[in-house]
Amino acid sequence: MYLPQLLKKAGTGEKLVALTCYDASFARILAEAGVDILLVGDSLGMTVQGHDSTLPVSMVDMLYHTEAVRRGAPTAFIMADLPFGSYQASPAQAFDNAARLLAAGANMVKLEGGAVMVDTVSYLTQRGVPVCAHLGLLPQSVNQTGYRAQAKDDAAARQLHMDAKALVAAGASLLVLESIPARLAAEVSENLQIPTIGIGAGLNCAGQVLVLNDLLGLTARPPRFAKDFMSGATSIKDAVVRYVKAVKLGEFPAPEHGF
Ligand code: KIV
Repeated sequence: MYLPQLLKKAGTGEKLVALTCYDASFARILAEAGVDILLVGDSLGMTVQGHDSTLPVSMVDMLYHTEAVRRGAPTAFIMADLPFGSYQASPAQAFDNAARLLAAGANMVKLEGGAVMVDTVSYLTQRGVPVCAHLGLLPQSVNQTGYRAQAKDDAAARQLHMDAKALVAAGASLLVLESIPARLAAEVSENLQIPTIGIGAGLNCAGQVLVLNDLLGLTARPPRFAKDFMSGATSIKDAVVRYVKAVKLGEFPAPEHGF
């Protein structure tokens, strides 16, 4: 699947379902279960590698996991994270690493940050690299913010809204909104021409994303926005199907998963 088909689906009002994925076996299951976007997230630093943040994840790690996911799901839409330190130095650095991820099988790259990333998004999208931007809680900036909900006051909310518009103008095709008030996510989603994908951002985004390990109930202290879909499921595939259905029907996230 390519970006135009994904955007066409979102254009019909159908919710987009994204889920992180790190290997070939799960890639096959997620694709069969109807997940629209397989995100090779740098959360693999925590879920797979056991670190306490995403910061140690390298390009070599991302390439390895992206290749594995592509082998497991040959026709799926795959988004891959540009890891910390692989894109912040310059647009040219970002392009070099984005090109490696596309060659490994990704259809799109994701990067974190607002106004400071506008030139980079523009540089990438003018050179054939679809970009998903990421605002709100930025796990790669944990040393500045900690892991807590963002944009809770008016000034920060205004800034996030302006950042979102600037990223869209620069060419971003999707926007992840992480851990922000549901009301703000709804306003931003309403005012943008591109689909928003929420995680801890309420129901009124164009789609939702979860971390696979949270969905499977494998996380010791899951975040507030997570839901264990394995509970009551008959298999891993059944748990993923339940997540897909819950998002498509607007039943997940519930108010208690938001801020
Ligand atoms: O790496 C990741 O899993 C992510 C999601 C939290 C959106 O970026």
